[in-house]
Amino acid sequence: MAEQKRIVIVLFMLSLLFLSGDSRLRDQYRDDGRNSHFRVPNFIGLVAEHGRRAEWHNVTTEDGYILSIFRIVRNNNNYQLGPPIYLQHGLTGTADMFAMVKPERNIAFLLADAGYDVWLGNLRGNAYSRKHKTLSTKDPKFWNFSMDEYAIKDLPAMMDYVLNVTNRSSLSYIGISLGTTISTIFLSNRTDYNSKLNLVVHFAPVTVFKSKTLTRQILLMIADLLEGPDKSFEILPRNRFVHSFVKLVCTASPLMRELCLFLVETFMGRDREQFDIPWDLVLKFALYFPAGCSAKVLFHYFQFLRTGEFGYFDHHDDSINLQYYGKKRAPQYNLSNIVAPMVFFKALNDPLSTLEDDVALIKKLPPNTTLHYEIVNWKNFNHIDFILAKDVKKLVYDRLFEILSDINKFP
Ligand SMILES: *[C@@H]1O[C@H](CO)[C@@H](O)[C@H](O)[C@H]1NC(C)=O
Ligand SMILES: *[C@@H]1O[C@H](CO)[C@@H](O)[C@H](O)[C@H]1NC(C)=O
Ligand SMILES: *[C@@H]1O[C@H](CO)[C@@H](O)[C@H](O)[C@H]1NC(C)=O
Ligand SMILES: *[C@@H]1O[C@H](CO)[C@@H](O)[C@H](O)[C@H]1NC(C)=O
Ligand SMILES: *[C@@H]1O[C@H](CO)[C@@H](O)[C@H](O)[C@H]1NC(C)=O
Ligand SMILES: *[C@@H]1O[C@H](CO)[C@@H](O)[C@H](O)[C@H]1NC(C)=O
Ligand SMILES: *[C@@H]1O[C@H](CO)[C@@H](O)[C@H](O)[C@H]1NC(C)=O
Repeated sequence: MAEQKRIVIVLFMLSLLFLSGDSRLRDQYRDDGRNSHFRVPNFIGLVAEHGRRAEWHNVTTEDGYILSIFRIVRNNNNYQLGPPIYLQHGLTGTADMFAMVKPERNIAFLLADAGYDVWLGNLRGNAYSRKHKTLSTKDPKFWNFSMDEYAIKDLPAMMDYVLNVTNRSSLSYIGISLGTTISTIFLSNRTDYNSKLNLVVHFAPVTVFKSKTLTRQILLMIADLLEGPDKSFEILPRNRFVHSFVKLVCTASPLMRELCLFLVETFMGRDREQFDIPWDLVLKFALYFPAGCSAKVLFHYFQFLRTGEFGYFDHHDDSINLQYYGKKRAPQYNLSNIVAPMVFFKALNDPLSTLEDDVALIKKLPPNTTLHYEIVNWKNFNHIDFILAKDVKKLVYDRLFEILSDINKFP
């Protein structure tokens, strides 16, 4: 009964979101890259708000996408650069997600302050990675990518770039949510990179979908509604609509505020005690998130959900699958290839990531893989607490720093 009520409320809120998304509001603010309505500071500007500096680098993938990658610059010029660490954002995110919260609880700034050389990637199609050698974002071919291309094309290009510029033979990788999905795909497919990642950190790991939680059932209902033959188009681009929605609808009354939080908590988990983000910062997040991806990426997740299997993107077309994989069905990832050392940080109140899922993943890894599994010592820790929580430094980052300094023999 309670579950049904939740489904009804969530579907009601989502339809409100989608319906008002069709209004003039959306057209007026839609960001097509030229629209002067959309002016917010970029990553460099966000970092500057905290009195820091960043560099902007551009990396071209083997299939022609030009990706932006940012590097935090340390203020003191007279220093020895520490080991490189790469941070990977989540679904429809950008590096901006790591530049919002204040330095005392900001993983990118904390690492840079400790002396690490911090790099932040941006996957193809997000607000910073919308250029291509030949394609324009108006071309459906530009959006013809799933998580496989993130993992097999974008990550190797960015890892190579960082290793080259820093003249190192390995780096540490920290991914959140989708950042963990694609690092797992990456290491299973581009096996030579297992020796180049000296540590792979999973915040809110999302890989195998073993358990059928309520949130997942809702997601599957949404998947069925959206299902269509053509999936090469952009979804959830950076736009002012989410910001306007939060401002107009979610702050309209205490009840509406509760409903908006309820909607978010259905997907992310409820942890009000750790959630002390002021309302103006929430509105700021809503300006930067979402920031665009291909519908195929979302459908790739839906495929994991439906099948319970962790495998390559299935084209649902025998001849295309045959051409791509030599089989009529897309194969599963070969996880027995993954030998890079890993550490999982697990939240117990995360509807998108369950213990059962991780057990299923770990069973498929080689038995001798070095793996730390850390359950965050806070019962209600949720999916987004890894970036936002009031005590995230004490609960997660302090432990991470110990592990990192062991691995990197640094400082
Ligand atoms: C990377 O691209 C951005 C945006 O096009 C540009 O502003 C910046 O100067 C480029 N950086 C380098 C190092 O080429
Ligand atoms: C996307 O790639 C698949 C596989 O190569 C191909 O069959 C399909 O026609 C492509 N779609 C677009 C819009 O480029
Ligand atoms: C690596 O760096 C060197 C010099 O900085 C440059 O000449 C070379 O093209 C780079 N290689 C790659 C793969 O980026
Ligand atoms: C890169 O590192 C190697 C050894 O680690 C060193 O011999 C070489 O001089 C370095 N190259 C540059 C350009 O710093
Ligand atoms: C990696 O993925 C590509 C493209 O799907 C595939 O052709 C290749 O066989 C895969 N490699 C491994 C080691 O799984
Ligand atoms: C997976 O990779 C391992 C090690 O490279 C290999 O021995 C095995 O045959 C592969 N399994 C499949 C199903 O491709
Ligand atoms: C685990 O065992 C495999 C096969 O015996 C070996 O190739 C690999 O190097 C080992 N990995 C570690 C981390 O010891």
